[in-house]
Amino acid sequence: MTKDKKEIVLSGIRATGNLHLGNYYGALRKFVAVQDDYDCNFFIADLHALTTNPDPQQLHANVKNIIAEYLAAGLDPEKSTLFIQSDVPEVSQLYLLLNMHVGIGELMRTASFKDKARKQLGIKTDNDNDGDIEKEIIGADSNKRVNAGLLTYPTLMAVDILIQKANKVPVGKDQEQHLELTRRFARRFNSFYGVELFPEPTNFDFGGAPVKVPGLDGSGKMGKSEGNCIYLIDDEKTLRKKVMRAVTDEGPKVPNQPISQPVQNLFTLMELTSSPEVVKQFRDAYADCSIRYGDLKKQLAEDILKITLPIRERILEIQNDEAYLGRVVKLGAEKARERAAKTLQEAREIMGIRKFY
Ligand code: TRP
Repeated sequence: MTKDKKEIVLSGIRATGNLHLGNYYGALRKFVAVQDDYDCNFFIADLHALTTNPDPQQLHANVKNIIAEYLAAGLDPEKSTLFIQSDVPEVSQLYLLLNMHVGIGELMRTASFKDKARKQLGIKTDNDNDGDIEKEIIGADSNKRVNAGLLTYPTLMAVDILIQKANKVPVGKDQEQHLELTRRFARRFNSFYGVELFPEPTNFDFGGAPVKVPGLDGSGKMGKSEGNCIYLIDDEKTLRKKVMRAVTDEGPKVPNQPISQPVQNLFTLMELTSSPEVVKQFRDAYADCSIRYGDLKKQLAEDILKITLPIRERILEIQNDEAYLGRVVKLGAEKARERAAKTLQEAREIMGIRKFY
């Protein structure tokens, strides 16, 4: 099959910090696995990161880190299109155009917007009263403001997807509403102008059971805001220390006692990173109450390191090779811009923006 005939897969990651084991098992490893079968496009959403006004030095450093991490984890710039969002100016242009068909009401009702707007306004309650949040925003005093970029975050994300005419967009639960809006905007544009410009994208689950990577703090999933993360870039000492400090419980008192959430989390991590024999050994030790959590953690740290340390080495190598990094993102930008420019041109024509010269 020629590249053009393959279905188009696209996903972006916001440039806000390093990649962790959750990103690796939940997304990156799957991206790597489908590189040959789809027309794959992966990018760093640095414009989306701007919606929370990051420190400029930090933003640039984050973009560089994530590119290096993508490459170190096995994404191949010859197979996939790897690019930085801001390197494709056509995205910003279509974002302006698409906004003409997006309602501020529907944007204000988006869950992620309500969440982040509350944070920007310093409102603690997370009551779901749309009226309240709207009043707060419109009535806010001048040093409490919700920036317009945050409101139009879903438009920008829709454009990322639609400008590449992507069919399959692998995203987690937290992004499903954005994908739904993307489909709605695509349909609306197509029907308003009576065209078939934008295909409606669907979530891409890669098949197989979804991978849930728990954190180390005994609660839910690994996520950078939770401070319960193992990062791909963690050095040996840091990683061991984190694992040894992971939350557990007092240990089983009776044979075959039900497993508590914090301990189950460690087993889940073990199932991802250790051999089945090792997992069985510790499960058996739990069942007959002979388990020592210290041993389990030592083994878990060991097995995680086997996966992350080689990646860490490559990340550091790549970060030090600015010429290589530069070549990769330039190639990616060229490929991404080719299709983006074509779609933008089509959209402009459709909307009646035609040149007089
Ligand atoms: N909003 C996504 C997130 O926070 C990142 C993102 C931006 C994205 N543009 C995208 C994901 C396009 C998929 C497709 O995770």
